[in-house]
Amino acid sequence: MHDILPADVGYWQMLEKTAEAVLSSYGYSEIRFPIVEKTELFLRSIGEVTDVVEKEMYAFVDRNGDGLALRPEGTAGCVRAVVEHGLLHENPMRRLWYRGPMFRHERPQKGRYRQFHQLGVEAYGVAGPDIDVELILLSRRILRQLGVAADLRLEINTLGSVDARLAYRQRLVDYLSQHVDQLDDDSRRRLQTNPLRILDSKNEAVKAVVAGAPNMLESMDEASKAHFAGLCSMLDASGVTYTVNPRLVRGLDYYSQTVFEWITDSLGAQGTVCAGGRYDGLIEFLGGRASQAVGFAMGIERLISMMQAAGRVPATNAPDGFVVAVGEAAQRQAVLLSERLRDQLPAFTLLNAAGGGSFKSQMKRADRSGARWAILLGEDEVSQSTVAVKSLRAEGDQVVIPQSELIAHLAAKN
Ligand code: HAM
Repeated sequence: MHDILPADVGYWQMLEKTAEAVLSSYGYSEIRFPIVEKTELFLRSIGEVTDVVEKEMYAFVDRNGDGLALRPEGTAGCVRAVVEHGLLHENPMRRLWYRGPMFRHERPQKGRYRQFHQLGVEAYGVAGPDIDVELILLSRRILRQLGVAADLRLEINTLGSVDARLAYRQRLVDYLSQHVDQLDDDSRRRLQTNPLRILDSKNEAVKAVVAGAPNMLESMDEASKAHFAGLCSMLDASGVTYTVNPRLVRGLDYYSQTVFEWITDSLGAQGTVCAGGRYDGLIEFLGGRASQAVGFAMGIERLISMMQAAGRVPATNAPDGFVVAVGEAAQRQAVLLSERLRDQLPAFTLLNAAGGGSFKSQMKRADRSGARWAILLGEDEVSQSTVAVKSLRAEGDQVVIPQSELIAHLAAKN
């Protein structure tokens, strides 16, 4: 779990502002829900035999004996909130987004943390692949505007309807059971619990077995095939480059039909920066009125690593002005003058040399702050109601003006 220090916060703000502008241009509204939910919610939605639930949840019993967990992802809480507040009764088509910390007790490594942050986007109430495409285009627009798209590829797949998925699961289990001696322990265990996950095993021997496994797409029902064909043709028409990866299965149980991931090779093993798909069954399963759903989440830390590698530089947070005030009377006057400045020039950012000190030491602080202008008040300035303005960028540029002209002077320069 990492601290985000002031030197890095600029990247976070740049990402957040960019994403928010794109999301609002597509008509998505922000929703905020708690970091802690009933553990049961995650067991039911993510699935009891997934890694996230089996091994990675920060789950605990609170003082009332209730089982609670720090959210490992946002989709479950978002659906819980939408159902609890009847948001789909008011408007059956909802477009929502959220961002914030998620928690998974994983083995930490580059790009994989125990507290990490997601930007999540969910769209409810649309059955056709047009909304899947909208989400892919929206994610691509965010990734492009962050300056990281060139390093990313899009992989898509379909898991088919819930029934198709179950039927395929059985075919897969039948096939893998014939090769059980070539599977590793993890895959053998998954054969009983979550066989689809064996498809994305990293073990070489298992990969060789998987290469001969029945093809998911070929096992699909006609409606699922048509949904996927519709998705592909709309992506083609929108000029989106993608590959169909029949082994892309995702690690959470709620998906059916479309799944997709934006992946980079530049971050090492943790190359997925954005992932999502359809989860049409979940809302009804959690007690809501049956409604379609599709969404994705971006890993903010991974995106920021990519932005840094791409040489993106956030705006500096250096102030415009730094007020140097020497002597008690000047210090008093500096406070009033600064407040007047903030009233009348709210966009001008101003730092006060709080704490006093000699002219020299205050000027040092002014330089270190990165400010463009030093605004100087000493005994002479106080007695004559003037103020000196010195450029900290250009040599020798200093003027003394009446205090009453300071605002107009700075407004003209800024
Ligand atoms: P997920 O694939 O588990 O999906 O996570 C989405 C993204 O969060 C990943 O692609 C990755 O970038 C980031 N991420 C996940 N775990 C970590 C970690 N330990 N450290 C750093 N980054 C991480 C979901 O969470 C789904 N709720 C996405 C979704 C929304 N599907 C439909 N709607």
